[in-house]
Amino acid sequence: MFYPEEIVEEVRTKTDIVDIVSGYVKLQKKGSSYFGLCPFHNEKSPSFSVSPGKQMYYCFGCGAGGNAITFLMEYENYTFPEALKVLADKAGVELPKEEVSKEARAQADLRASLLEINKLAANYFYYQLKHPQGRQGYQYLQNRKLSDDTIRRFGLGFANKTGDDLYRYLREKGYKDGILKETGLVTIEERGTHDKFWNRVMFPIMDVNNRVIGFGGRVMGDGTPKYLNSPETRLFDKSRNLYGLNYAKSTREKHMLVCEGYMDVIAMHQAGFTNAVASLGTAFTLQHASLLKRYTDQVILTYDSDKAGVKAALRAIPILKEAGVSARVLNMQPYKDPDEFIKNLGAEAFRQRIENARNSFLFEIDVLKQDFDLQDPEQKTQFYNGAARKLLEFTEALERDNYIQAVSREYFINYEDLKRLVNSLGSRLGTGGQAARQQTPSYRDRKKEKEDGPRKSQRLLLTWLIEEPGLFDKIEGIITPDDFKEELYHQVAVMVFEGHAKGQVNPAGILNHFINDEEQYKTVASLFHARLKESLTNEERSKAFSETVYKVKKNSLDEASRAAADIGQLQEIIKAQSALKSLHISID
Ligand code: GTP
Ligand code: MN
Repeated sequence: MFYPEEIVEEVRTKTDIVDIVSGYVKLQKKGSSYFGLCPFHNEKSPSFSVSPGKQMYYCFGCGAGGNAITFLMEYENYTFPEALKVLADKAGVELPKEEVSKEARAQADLRASLLEINKLAANYFYYQLKHPQGRQGYQYLQNRKLSDDTIRRFGLGFANKTGDDLYRYLREKGYKDGILKETGLVTIEERGTHDKFWNRVMFPIMDVNNRVIGFGGRVMGDGTPKYLNSPETRLFDKSRNLYGLNYAKSTREKHMLVCEGYMDVIAMHQAGFTNAVASLGTAFTLQHASLLKRYTDQVILTYDSDKAGVKAALRAIPILKEAGVSARVLNMQPYKDPDEFIKNLGAEAFRQRIENARNSFLFEIDVLKQDFDLQDPEQKTQFYNGAARKLLEFTEALERDNYIQAVSREYFINYEDLKRLVNSLGSRLGTGGQAARQQTPSYRDRKKEKEDGPRKSQRLLLTWLIEEPGLFDKIEGIITPDDFKEELYHQVAVMVFEGHAKGQVNPAGILNHFINDEEQYKTVASLFHARLKESLTNEERSKAFSETVYKVKKNSLDEASRAAADIGQLQEIIKAQSALKSLHISID
């Protein structure tokens, strides 16, 4: 970050988040907050809230949350300095020039030049494809049944057999070796300069804003590697970009199709499935999933039908789930990939397959089943046990039961028997059964339930303190920030306690400290939006609060006792431990 913290704070305090957000989202006041349709995922009823008090937004559906700065970063795809600049201008705050400019401007200039060069290169490749020197490439694409429209829409091109013509072209345009090296399009060595791509059809890779950030190239014929991709550069981060998303993002379909390759995306788009994207030359990541989550909460996996494709699907399913995206899996049999399927059976058959795509959980059970010979009683039992174990992944009783029903139906297992198996397995493993639920059901909660006890108590205590600052008095002399042993919660606790001592806790300001780490950022944002049970009597509240304080302190003392350096220290800790036993805090 280039700006001193005071400036950021000044901009923030002079900005009203309701003002900013309502420029993009239609908001309606409800109680002390505003609600609207979340701009970061698809929804029909508003779960996106903006709190003027906290100066933050939070979506109860997808978990997106943050302050005015991050709203612009997410929505407009701005960098931190860009978002800050917009808000500063609006608020009439003058940003310091010198400190910012040198490095930041150099970076921005560099990015802009790299984008320019990529665009020039894409145009160059396209030009080649459409001229005699690119005939081989053009014919190749025609053989693969791509229309001229499709070729234009995806900007496909050709890197010809001359070894350095792109390099010379870009030099003529005035670019120096230094920056050309950074594009990954050329290698510049003592022995000479070469274009990276040679005798390949070229697929420009675009970000969601239609800017060319890299290339993939397919070899003509059977050479290796079959596909060659740009290296990661300042512009091109493979784990954060999806091929085709620039078009797919404006689909009207509820779901997105995720496949393996360039040709699959293009074939699907050409056949009318303009909601297809691919992760390129890299496994599907949580960043990919979060990126998709901005546009949809349903994905249909259309990976290759071979072993590798099944493996990739099994890997992607939990990642999608983690990001709050539900997955289904398309059956491609008897073809290898979407491109081949559509070529052979056509778009209508493909649409049928989309409709019949398999629920991801049942797909996982299908795959599990293949490991067992169901004619053999012992293996059959093992399969049932495996399925029961997987069913325990559902922490919500109702959802689990729905799946027990589905599995018993699909695999001809008696429902009551399967249910009994799941429950007995659950009580043996100490999970399932009565997993307590406190908040609205979402994937985030499921994650919370998995967290261990101490973590959970620390999180709860922070939420209590943030929601009801009056409680600080009740824990005086008992709890300090150092009792939060979980590193992230400790950092937050330090700031919350500090804020309280100064008279006001500032959620949006605290959140800014975590802006560089998406996971931490989300965790902290959700801290400020957790809801405590409202229906408790005073006595129940006192009991719940006391218990939380007790657990946090006990964990802290237990850790201290493990780390105690001498017997004197240990005696102190033991004293505190036994005093803690009689803790009761009454709140009303
Ligand atoms: P076609 O033979 O052109 O139809 O390819 P395909 O789309 O059937 O490709 P395949 O299933 O072999 O690969 C799927 C995707 O994986 C490709 O689009 C590439 O993004 C990537 N890929 C395939 N081969 C290579 C390779 O050799 N190197 C790298 N880096 N990526 C590859
Ligand atoms: Mn293929």
